[in-house]
Amino acid sequence: MRIGVLTSGGDCPGLNAVIRSVVHRGTDVHGDEIVGILDGFLGLIEGRTRTVSHDDVTGLLTLGGTILGSARVRRDRIAWAVENAEALAREIGIDALIAIGGEGTLTAAKQFSDAGLPVVGVPKTIDNDIEGTDVTFGFDTAVHVATEAIDRLKTTAESHQRVMVVELMGRHTGWITLTAGMAGGAHGILIPEKPFDIEAVARIIEDRFARGKKFAIIAVAEGASPVPGTMRFDHGEVDQYGHRTFGGIGNRLAHELENLLGKEARPVILGHVQRGGTPTARDRVLATRFGWHAVEAVHQGAFGHFTALRRTGIELLPLGDAVTRLKTVPKDRWTESEAVL
Ligand code: F6P
Repeated sequence: MRIGVLTSGGDCPGLNAVIRSVVHRGTDVHGDEIVGILDGFLGLIEGRTRTVSHDDVTGLLTLGGTILGSARVRRDRIAWAVENAEALAREIGIDALIAIGGEGTLTAAKQFSDAGLPVVGVPKTIDNDIEGTDVTFGFDTAVHVATEAIDRLKTTAESHQRVMVVELMGRHTGWITLTAGMAGGAHGILIPEKPFDIEAVARIIEDRFARGKKFAIIAVAEGASPVPGTMRFDHGEVDQYGHRTFGGIGNRLAHELENLLGKEARPVILGHVQRGGTPTARDRVLATRFGWHAVEAVHQGAFGHFTALRRTGIELLPLGDAVTRLKTVPKDRWTESEAVL
């Protein structure tokens, strides 16, 4: 078979490991030809591809990013591509497509699948917000990077008796912030699922300093918001891809805490560092397993499905299960941490 592979949406550590695994399983075991589609759905629309051979994937297991490139695509262009799905697939000569991406990509994959294109999805995102799979690859790496950042901030914060506000990724969900915040021992953890009260944040810090502690770390997800009426803050507009733009809560919070407490507070925006670089061992393994199962799904004709980790095994679930709602942090998870304010 000629199997197309694309990576779409924001990149994440482990994408290359999936591509490598698809090539190994597809070419070595099934005699497939793997057609890499460049820059996500943009490459499908514009007919830009490259063959990916066994030699091309040497060394990819440990490499961050994606050798195929990724792009966000406007919804109207996706709608056009869905209408012309069969013709586009014919043009690049593929019998099936493996689409690796987050919620937006899997939504598009479902639309292509409903339109008759044989598609298998592979979920990825550092945010870990895809429903159906216990975890997505990329998340573990992002948590490691964020935890290391918190560890490092502690020593400089203590030297200067400062409050450090570290803003972590997660537009709609607080998985990275909760996990790295707990692992790094942050004193305040602010996530989108639970609007925070600035007074409560200030109180925690004041109490710490009153007990003779010399610093405080507040981990805040980029999508976290204050309880309405407690602190004026507006998240951004909607961008051309239909995504709400976020940014600013870390800066704003540090400024506000400095005013409230009369103590130095510094914002640290970790940003895309969380998405770059080599995947952790756990992410490499999950990505490799997803690639293996995606190829098997193609050969079983399990189109319209995606690979999902359920406990210890990989299962194939209908694409619809991944995109009907985001997997947010449930209350019983955040109540386990006394630092969630
Ligand atoms: O969806 C993953 C993610 O990393 C979010 O956590 C973050 O808000 C967003 O991507 C940033 O994406 P961009 O590459 O468009 O800046």
